[in-house]
Amino acid sequence: MEIQLKKENPVAVFDSGVGGISVLRELVKIMPEEDYIYFGDSKNAPYGTRDKEDVKNLTVCCARRLFAQGAKGLVVACNTATSAAVRLLRETYPYIPIVGIEPAVKPAVHCMEHPRVLVLATPMTIREDKLNRLIARYADEAEIIPLPCPGLMDFIEKGNLEGENLHGFLEDLLYSYSGNRVDAAVLGCTHYPFVREQIQRVLGEKVRIFDGGEGTAREMRRRLAASGLLRGENRTGRIIFENSLEDGHKIALCHRLLHGF
Ligand code: DGL
Repeated sequence: MEIQLKKENPVAVFDSGVGGISVLRELVKIMPEEDYIYFGDSKNAPYGTRDKEDVKNLTVCCARRLFAQGAKGLVVACNTATSAAVRLLRETYPYIPIVGIEPAVKPAVHCMEHPRVLVLATPMTIREDKLNRLIARYADEAEIIPLPCPGLMDFIEKGNLEGENLHGFLEDLLYSYSGNRVDAAVLGCTHYPFVREQIQRVLGEKVRIFDGGEGTAREMRRRLAASGLLRGENRTGRIIFENSLEDGHKIALCHRLLHGF
C-alpha cells in the first residue's frame, strides 16, 4: 500500500543509536523549518559488530515504524545500516525519498595530490562491498587505509566524549598513524564526529578530517525538493527523539548532542 506523503509530515532520521544526531544537526542547519523524528535503536546497538542479515532486518523494522508514523522521507544516518539495507529500502519504498550516508572518501582523496587517507568505520562497514568499491574507485589517486574501530561508538553511546579512558583508547587504536603520519582521515561512522577533536589530537594537527553529514543533509534537501515535499515556510520545526531503550538518559543525551554542551 502506498503511503500518502505530505509536505507537513516530518523527516525521519535513523541510526543504531545516538550517532545519527551528527547528521540531524546538519539537516536542522539547512532545513530548520522541517519537523523531524529521530529514532535510535540503542537497544540493539552496536550494529557494526553484527552480521549483515541482522543489520538489514533491524533497519527495515525501524524504517517501517517511522513510515507508520507518517515520515515523508528517511535519512539512514548510519553508515553500517546504509551498507546493509539502503538498497532494499529503496526497492521496498520507491515513492519515498530515502537517503543513506557513506564515508566521505571522495573529498578526502581530493584534498591534495595523492594523499594518505585513513578511513575509520565499524567492522561491518569496512567489510562491506559498498566501501570496498568506493576505495577501489580512488585507488590510483590516493593511498587509502581502512581501519575498523570496534568499541569506539560505545564511548559516544555512553556520553563519554572526552577524558583519559577515551584518549587512551584512541592512542591504542591510532598508534600506527599518530603524529601527522596520514594526510586526511574520514569519519565513516556517524558517532565519530562527536569525538572529532579527540581524534584530531591523537592523529596530529595537520591531518584534515572529513565526515559525510553535511553532504547527506544536502542530498535529502535535493530529494525532498524534487518530490515537491519541502516545507519552505518561515517556521521553526519540532524535533522528536525516540529510542528503543525507552530510557530517559538516552533522550537527555540526544538533546545534549544536538544542542552542544
Ligand atoms: N553510527 C553507526 C555508523 O554510522 C554505527 C554504530 C554501530 O556500530 O552501531 O556506522
